[in-house]
Amino acid sequence: MSIAAIPIKPAAPEPVASTSTPFERLGGEAGVRRLVDHFYDVMELEPKYAELLAMHPVGKMEETRNKLFWFLCGWLGGPDYFSQRFGHPRLRMRHFPYAIGTKERDDWVACMTQTLDEVEIDPDLRRQLLEAFVGTADWMRNKAESGNMPAGSVIHG
Ligand code: HEM
Repeated sequence: MSIAAIPIKPAAPEPVASTSTPFERLGGEAGVRRLVDHFYDVMELEPKYAELLAMHPVGKMEETRNKLFWFLCGWLGGPDYFSQRFGHPRLRMRHFPYAIGTKERDDWVACMTQTLDEVEIDPDLRRQLLEAFVGTADWMRNKAESGNMPAGSVIHG
């Protein structure tokens, strides 16, 4: 397998200055909470995200929202609530129970793009966050689809 085929863990958005993290620029916990709530509101209300929504555990939306909130606080440079509760994020591994291919990735990214269009956010921060979300969502793919897996990962038998 060539080195280019090895998925590289995408980085969280870089702070622009040492004094301001993306977490702070987004408005701290209140800003992250607004983003997460709007993301799941969009997913729940827009019929085009019905399949994405259906992947999520039934009747646990409050917990699902909290988990993304806790994770994003740390990922954006704020308090590390997710790790404090659950240990190392191991984000890709935690998504293994869900079959994520190109469509699921694209739906997630479209839902987040719509969210970022609808919440109040600095344009530079929006661009930076979207770039980091796109890279992370792509890294989350775990479903073999024709042409997307390196030859070495094919399991025979
Ligand atoms: C690529 C498309 C993605 C799909 C289809 C997807 C889907 C899901 C689903 C179905 C869950 C389970 C919800 C629950 O246990 O309540 C989940 C959990 C989670 N997702 Fe995603 N996700 C995607 C991308 C992302 C990205 C890009 C991030 C972060 C930037 C993210 C962060 C999380 C976190 C933190 C959890 C909770 C993990 C846990 O504690 O089990 N997801 N996701």
